[in-house]
Amino acid sequence: MREKELSRRLHAAFLLVREGRTVADIGTDHAYLPITLVKSGKTDFAYASDIGKGPLARAEENIKKAGLNEKIKTVLTDGAAVFDTLADEFIIAGMGGELIFDIISRAPFMKNPDIHLVLQPMTKVPALRRLLAENGFNIEKETLVSEDGKVYTLMSVYFDGKKRELTDYEAVVGDVENADKELLMKILEGVIYDLDKKIKGKNAPEDVALKEKIEALIKTKRFAQYTKCNE
Ligand SMILES: C[S@@+](CC[C@H](N)C(=O)[O-])C[C@H]1O[C@@H](n2cnc3c(N)ncnc32)[C@H](O)[C@@H]1O
Repeated sequence: MREKELSRRLHAAFLLVREGRTVADIGTDHAYLPITLVKSGKTDFAYASDIGKGPLARAEENIKKAGLNEKIKTVLTDGAAVFDTLADEFIIAGMGGELIFDIISRAPFMKNPDIHLVLQPMTKVPALRRLLAENGFNIEKETLVSEDGKVYTLMSVYFDGKKRELTDYEAVVGDVENADKELLMKILEGVIYDLDKKIKGKNAPEDVALKEKIEALIKTKRFAQYTKCNE
């Protein structure tokens, strides 16, 4: 498989992986990422792991087809704990944000600035940002990517030990400065829609304040071309 054959979501994860590291792809399923990383030469050796026998059998089949049995080892395991001392580059993609953090918290060796995490939550992105911040993990970079009408968030994360409390606003909007504004706008529209549903008929001052703050953000000039109601 060539790099350009990856989906946009997985290709965005590929780009965040550091070169020349030993990669562990946790919850690999089809193993597309480790296969592409090794084929491209970005990675010499990778682990493709999964909790499920079915997904791991799929991974094994694809690895065999790619002729990479010597370069990618499959591991049937729950989470990442067994990779202590084995890998220094971890990909955890295509799972809910809380499950991703559960996997991280059960692998305490990840509290090491030399270890790099590439995370791609499918849901609960604000919850994941908050859990990372509260536990001393720094999101040094975020990428947004759009595929089949959905916007995905990818995170490049290192442990720095500095524990931070995020406000609801910070947890929801992420890295506003560097984000693709068109894609962030799509995410924020969804957040406002969900907040409206929560607010309806309820006394929810915190949700109202959060909604107003997000609306104020998307009325600023940097979002001007993506919304009709700007200054
Ligand atoms: C939707 S697939 C994502 C596959 C691939 N990472 C991607 O992003 O396209 C999620 C995979 O995570 C695996 N998984 C779920 N919980 C896991 C855990 N605790 N440890 C390892 N793998 C897990 C599932 O078996 C499934 O194969």
